[in-house]
This record gives sequence, structure tokens and C-alpha cells, in this order.
Amino acid sequence: MIYVYGALKDRVVEDKLARKAVGKDKVHRLFYPVVPVLITSSHESRVGCMPAISCTPLSFNPLLIGVAISPKNSTHGLVEKSGYFAVNWLSHVHASKVAYMAEVSGREVADKISASGLTVQDGHSSPIAVIKEAVAVIECDVKEKRRIGDHDLFLGECLVAYAEEDFEDYWLFKKYVPMLYVGSESTVFRRKYVALKR
Ligand SMILES: Cc1cc2nc3c(=O)[nH]c(=O)nc-3n(C[C@H](O)[C@H](O)[C@H](O)COP(=O)(O)O)c2cc1C
Repeated sequence: MIYVYGALKDRVVEDKLARKAVGKDKVHRLFYPVVPVLITSSHESRVGCMPAISCTPLSFNPLLIGVAISPKNSTHGLVEKSGYFAVNWLSHVHASKVAYMAEVSGREVADKISASGLTVQDGHSSPIAVIKEAVAVIECDVKEKRRIGDHDLFLGECLVAYAEEDFEDYWLFKKYVPMLYVGSESTVFRRKYVALKR
């Protein structure tokens, strides 16, 4: 039995292939595994950083990157105030540091990036802060903010993008080992990230 929500009226139907119902609280997990990125942003003396899976390219011309950020996250305020953010990709070797970034908020730990063991550096289009250990970075200028439910969608125009040699026309995966977020009920956050091997 599966449920049809909303516009088609809440009702229960039978799925001919006997697929089971996925509750609304778990629908987002159907997108897993997903490669998380770190969103960084800085304003005045503060630098914020948070893992995000709701980050995706949305337009080629202009080159727009969208990221949905909850207003509850301290990084949200920094993106809003500065008008800039960067998207940082890290290799799986840094999975525990990425996990830490999700476990604590910049509201509690002022220098969250250093506390995680990662390093902040200035981006190429100041005042953007980026992660030195990142294998690739996109620096973005916020063009628009839209409220979408309980998140805000920031549309950022790409100012500059750079990657290690392992990226040519595509990732070669000779050096870069992506981390995949698979989710878990486990309280050991590190277990939620697996490596994508060649
Ligand atoms: C894998 C993963 C992906 C996440 N993706 C998002 C996201 O796309 N948007 C969001 O607002 N929060 C997302 N979060 C939650 C934030 O990373 C988390 O609340 C973080 O502690 C916010 O840090 P801040 O308060 O320092 O900004 C994600 C968490 C994890 C573990």
C-alpha cells in the first residue's frame, strides 16, 4: 500500500509492483547516496562552514549554482550578509571533518573550521573564504534569495572555479576519492560517509 499526498488528495493506493510506502520524513533519503559539499562564507571577522547536499548547478548561462540553507544555520546569516558563498569538495580522507561540521554549529564554536582540523584561506574573489584542503572550489556571488518552505534558496553566480589536476573535462578519480553520504541511524557520524572507489 502506498500513499498519494496533497493535490491528488491524501489516499491509500495499491502499488502493482508491491513497492512499499516511503514516509514524508524519509523521502529526502531516496536521493542518497549523495556527495556532500562544504558551503563556506565569511562576513567581517566571521567565517562559516556547513555540509550541504542541497547544492546543485541550476543554469549554464548565466552560470548559477543553487544552495538551499536553513535559516537556523549560522552559515545562512553569513551568506545573507556577505552576499557570497563558496562550494568546496573534499576527498573521503576528510570525511570525519565534514561530519564534525554538521555536528556543531558556528553559533557554538566560533572557529569551527580550525576546530575541525581543516584550514581556511582567502578565495580568489575576496571576501570569500574557502577550504585549503578542497580538491575543487566554486566561488559565487549571490544574485537572489528565495524562500522555499523551511529553507532559503540562494542563487549564486559563479565568479571563479578551480580544481586539482585530477579534474580534466571530468573527474578522473586518480587522486580524488569522493565521499558519499548514505545517512544512518547511527550516532557515529563517521559511519554515514563511504568512499566511492574506482
Ligand atoms: C550530509 C549533510 C548534508 C546537509 N545538507 C544541508 C543542506 O543542504 N542545507 C542545510 O541547510 N543544512 C544541511 N545540513 C545541516 C547542516 O550542515 C548543519 O545544520 C550544520 O551544523 C550547520 O552549521 P552552521 O550552523 O555552523 O551553519 C546537512 C547536514 C549533513 C550531515
